[in-house]
Amino acid sequence: MRITLVQGDITVQHVDAVVNAANSSLLGGGGVDGAIHRRGGPVILAACRELRASHYGEGLPTGQAVATVAGELPARWVIHTVGPVFSATENRSHLLASCYRESLRVADELGATSVAFPAISTGVYRWPVDDAARIAIGTVRAAPTRVTDLRLVLFTADAYDVFERTLETEGA
Ligand code: APR
Repeated sequence: MRITLVQGDITVQHVDAVVNAANSSLLGGGGVDGAIHRRGGPVILAACRELRASHYGEGLPTGQAVATVAGELPARWVIHTVGPVFSATENRSHLLASCYRESLRVADELGATSVAFPAISTGVYRWPVDDAARIAIGTVRAAPTRVTDLRLVLFTADAYDVFERTLETEGA
């Protein structure tokens, strides 16, 4: 698997699947969630509502992932995953790792071989970027997956720099 860092907007990535940093309602929000729904169009929300009506009556639990169509996005699918909110008192690292692992498992089920991830939980959910990078890179590196093109898409130069440093050190 090739891991590449991209600085930019995840909604323009030409990959099979784009991962959304969703919330458990699956009904949209700000950040990545807002960008994906805005650019992807109403079909994504309609598919999310269908998921809520069928399998996820209580919402998508933190750390789990589920796929929908991608509407107007260049990607074929959106894989929605719910990251943990950062806590200084409770170690929720396993839930953040689960977002990456479960998203790759869903990608494999779809037959997606190229996947773009945002820096899950590092925005509204306030996870420190350096720790999120360590968890993200460590988890995707260890994941048994058929994904061959994995992109970590960072919105800001600062986040890109943190992930780049982590990729170099974690790779050592
Ligand atoms: N492309 C790539 N990355 C983006 C984009 C984008 N278009 N927009 C924001 N980001 C980055 C942010 O800078 C941050 O580093 O994605 C990372 C995750 O931030 P959020 O989108 O806020 O996601 P998260 O911290 O997981 O919080 C999820 O926020 O938007 C709501 O509905 C969402 O309730 C959920 C919560």
